[in-house]
Amino acid sequence: MTILVTGATGTVGRLIVDELARNGHQVRALTRDPAKAGLPEGVEVVAGDLAVPDSLMTAFEGVEAVHLINFAGDDYAPLKTGEQLVALAAKSGVRKVTVLGGRADGPLEQALAASELEWTLLAPVEFMSNTLQWWAQTIKAEGVIREPFGGRLSAMVHERDIAAVAATVLTGDGHAGRTYTLTGPQAITTTEKVRILSEAVGQEIRFVELSEDEARAKWRADGMGPETIEFLIGALGDTPEIGYTVVPAVEQVTGRAPRSFAQWAAEHAAAFKR
Ligand SMILES: NC(=O)c1ccc[n+]([C@@H]2O[C@H](COP(=O)([O-])OP(=O)(O)OC[C@H]3O[C@@H](n4cnc5c(N)ncnc54)[C@H](OP(=O)(O)O)[C@@H]3O)[C@@H](O)[C@H]2O)c1
Repeated sequence: MTILVTGATGTVGRLIVDELARNGHQVRALTRDPAKAGLPEGVEVVAGDLAVPDSLMTAFEGVEAVHLINFAGDDYAPLKTGEQLVALAAKSGVRKVTVLGGRADGPLEQALAASELEWTLLAPVEFMSNTLQWWAQTIKAEGVIREPFGGRLSAMVHERDIAAVAATVLTGDGHAGRTYTLTGPQAITTTEKVRILSEAVGQEIRFVELSEDEARAKWRADGMGPETIEFLIGALGDTPEIGYTVVPAVEQVTGRAPRSFAQWAAEHAAAFKR
C-alpha cells in the first residue's frame, strides 16, 4: 500500500518518511519543490501544494493512508482547502488519515470529522527540536541563554516519537476517531533543560533569567513584532496544563517508552558546541 506523507520535508514529516521507509512501506513524499526536498534515496517524491487541490491529483493516486499537516504556506496559515482535500482522499480510496495538530482545529479537522475516513489527530506538546531552532545559534556563539520564566515546566516530546506514533497509526488498526496528546517521559523546567543540554554538549551553558520587561526589550531588539512578543510571554509565562502534564500515549501506541530530553540532547550535541 502507498502511504502519502505531507509536510514531508519538515521536522516531523521527514521522520515519518524515514520511519515508514525503514519498516519497508511504500512512501510517497509531498513537497512544493522536489528539487529542494533532500529526501532519502528510494522515497518517491511528488510535487504538490496543499493550498491548490488540483495540484494533488498525482500525489493521491493509489494512496490508502495519508499523513496531513493542517497548514499551508511558510507562515503556518490554517489550511483552507480541508473540504477539497478530504473529498480527494475519499475519491482516491484513502482509508486512514493522521493529522499533525496545530494550535486549533480548522477546516481540515472539521471536514474529516464530517467524513467517513478513519482519522486520528496527533496533538503533540512542545517539540524538543524547538531547542535547535531557538537556542543553537546563541549557545554556539556565547554559551548563554537569556530568557524569562526559568521555572517554566514543559513535557516536551521528541519529534521521532511523534513520527513513530504517526507510522504506527497509518499502518495499524484501532486508532480511528482518537486524539493522541503526545508528550515526552517527564516535565522539566527551562533551567533543567539548560543543565541537561550543557552536560550533553560537555561545555558550560549559562542561563540568565530575564524579567518579562527585559524579555520584551530583548525580543524587540532581536526584531520580533509586538504580537509575537505578547504571544511568547503568554505561552511561556502561562503554559496550559496540557503542556506540562505527562501522558502515556507514545508508549501505548508504539509499545516503546518515549525518548527523554537527555537522549535528544545527546543526539544533537554537535549543533550546540562552540
Ligand atoms: N514546534 C512545536 O513545538 C509544535 C508543537 C505542537 C504542534 N506543532 C505543529 O507542528 C506543525 C509544524 O510541523 P513541522 O515543525 O514538522 O513543520 P516544518 O518543519 O515547519 O515544515 C513545514 C512543512 O510544511 C510543508 N508545507 C508548507 N506549506 C505547504 C503547502 N502549501 N503545500 C504543501 N506542503 C506545504 C513544507 O513543505 P515544502 O516546503 O517542502 O513544500 C514543510 O515540509 C504546525 O502545525 C505546528 O502548529 C508544533
